[in-house]
Amino acid sequence: MADKKRILFVCLGNICRSPAAEGIMNHLIEQEKLTAEFKIDSAGLYGGHAGELPDRRMRIHASKRGYDLTHRSRPVKPSDFDDCDVIVAMDNNNYSSLKNLAPTIEAEKKIVRMIDYIHSFPYQHSVPDPYYEGAEGFELVLDMLEEGCRNLLESLKEGS
Ligand code: 4NP
Repeated sequence: MADKKRILFVCLGNICRSPAAEGIMNHLIEQEKLTAEFKIDSAGLYGGHAGELPDRRMRIHASKRGYDLTHRSRPVKPSDFDDCDVIVAMDNNNYSSLKNLAPTIEAEKKIVRMIDYIHSFPYQHSVPDPYYEGAEGFELVLDMLEEGCRNLLESLKEGS
């Protein structure tokens, strides 16, 4: 069987947005019986939360939708650019930081923006950081990520 397609979701702290995206995408690939074809991971550009579970608020909001978030925060590492096939930035700062870290042109080409897979939130230019927001900020992020993950998975299935 061909190697699994590896998707890495990246945000700043790796405790809110990217582990939520990882949980949603894992849920989708399980539903669609695609676990043999995809490997999902997440990481952060700021390592200050390394080893932590996702933010408690995000775990609570996600669990109400059926997502169990168990990832432990870790920083992006140089080997990610080799190991992953698609690297998904949650916002434009994440995107610029990843572009700066990419060791090769080939690695740079792997980096995409999550917002480019989200079409129902025209006033949003990125997946917004919910860390300093209330409950509605976490719900918005989950709404956006559910749409983005579905569209991203469709595009990767088509492109396989
Ligand atoms: P995330 O949210 O990037 O979606 O995980 C954040 C979490 C923590 C911090 C910033 C953003 N922080 O600065 O500690």
